[in-house]
Amino acid sequence: MSEATQIIAIDGPAGAGKSSTARAVAERLGFAFLDTGAMYRAATWWAVHNNINLDNPEALAENTRQMHLEMFEVDGVQQVTVNGHDVTEAIRSPEVTSLIYRLDQNADVRQQLVALQRQFGEKEPTVAEGRDIGTVDFPKAGCKIYMDASPEVRAQRRLKQLADKDIIEAYEEILQAIIERDTQAMQRVESPLCQAEDAVRLDTSDLNFNEVVEAIITLARKDLCL
Ligand code: DC
Repeated sequence: MSEATQIIAIDGPAGAGKSSTARAVAERLGFAFLDTGAMYRAATWWAVHNNINLDNPEALAENTRQMHLEMFEVDGVQQVTVNGHDVTEAIRSPEVTSLIYRLDQNADVRQQLVALQRQFGEKEPTVAEGRDIGTVDFPKAGCKIYMDASPEVRAQRRLKQLADKDIIEAYEEILQAIIERDTQAMQRVESPLCQAEDAVRLDTSDLNFNEVVEAIITLARKDLCL
């Protein structure tokens, strides 16, 4: 089996729990973890930082070419730097989150980030999560999962995450934002979010975190002959 197939590709909509489960699966199996959403977030932050006109596709692509992105872990926490700036927190801000769709539809930007993602995944066995991992990044990934949960369940989980940080938001507003992001991701022209034909659908609505991790590990062991 070639090294390139030692990829666990996890796709799905925002809030399905991909990141935390992908990280846990990577740790359990001794695989590297690749959070591709962080790369789109970093490129968006870099565009805003440089006052790039988000309506100008060439300027966005050129700006992304000038981005020097580093992602590494310190004490199990992912750190992200862009051209020397620590953007670990900034890329999760509501401003960046609300602007990513202006950039993630840009074919040139996507090609650049996909190239970086492939370089990463070709180096070592990797759990990669995003929206187009099984369809575009690694169509030959040995294990593909499409993680989903109903918008209502995802909104409830988000509500709880925020409440744990003492942030109170209205359930209806969170639900509406989730539905909007789903629509943007599924209807965009470039690499729309969709389930790869050979991906296994995992509906996590009625599963807890450990159950999801176990389900993915069981599947990966079978698919990748681990
Ligand atoms: O997973 P996330 O919420 O951190 O991703 C941030 C955004 O990046 C999300 O709105 C869609 C985009 N994205 C993408 O277009 N393709 C990917 N492979 C990963 C994320």
